[in-house]
Amino acid sequence: MSEEMTRRRFLVLGGVAVGAMALGGAGYAATRAPEVGRSRTTMGAGMSKVLVVYGTGSGCTIGVARQIGKTLAERGATVEVVSATEAPAPAGYDAVVVGSGVRAGNWHGPVESWVSANAATLKEKPVAFFTACLTMASDPSKRDEVRAYTDQVIKKSGVEPVGIGLFAGWNQPKKFSFIERAILRMMKAPEGDFRDFAAIGAWAAETAPKLGLT
Ligand SMILES: Cc1cc2nc3c(=O)[nH]c(=O)nc-3n(C[C@H](O)[C@H](O)[C@H](O)COP(=O)(O)O)c2cc1C
Repeated sequence: MSEEMTRRRFLVLGGVAVGAMALGGAGYAATRAPEVGRSRTTMGAGMSKVLVVYGTGSGCTIGVARQIGKTLAERGATVEVVSATEAPAPAGYDAVVVGSGVRAGNWHGPVESWVSANAATLKEKPVAFFTACLTMASDPSKRDEVRAYTDQVIKKSGVEPVGIGLFAGWNQPKKFSFIERAILRMMKAPEGDFRDFAAIGAWAAETAPKLGLT
């Protein structure tokens, strides 16, 4: 990915996109990919109950969340993968995994708000966070930069995760709005699906014991 694809450019251009969409009334929901359609999936039939909550705009993070859910279900959990926009109640679960795609250096609003709104309950159980973005696709050496997206959520909510997963996302132009596509073109972001499902599964497997699964 181009060296021009710096954090500052993402923040400036991404901020413009978010503002423009708000002004135009073209919220994320208006442009979304088919993957966004099904916002709740149940996997596995184990004793432990795990909730996986995601925030997405284009649908990319749904695939990441489902891969995490699949791996945890293989390790003996009953897993519900749910969009933050459904406002799932975390109280009945033994452990929670929460993650988001990124826009201009931030998690999506609904998932960030969900973490803050449920912080008291989340602090009582093991919670892991994950982020899917293009910086991880372009330059994995910028892990600290990507980690900072998650650190903001930790700071705001006071929820301390037992693990943090940082994953490459996608740039699939057809799944983004006109404005988002224009921003990604300006960023010279390479096109493709950079999600590494083996790496996502490996992180989930490594995190499973910290979530109380064997
Ligand atoms: C307007 C816009 C702003 C973005 N800002 C960032 C950013 O600041 N950092 C980053 O690494 N990726 C950024 N991305 C890339 C997305 O996080 C990436 O495409 C991700 O896979 C999207 O997943 P989602 O649609 O499920 O949120 C941005 C994408 C768009 C369209």
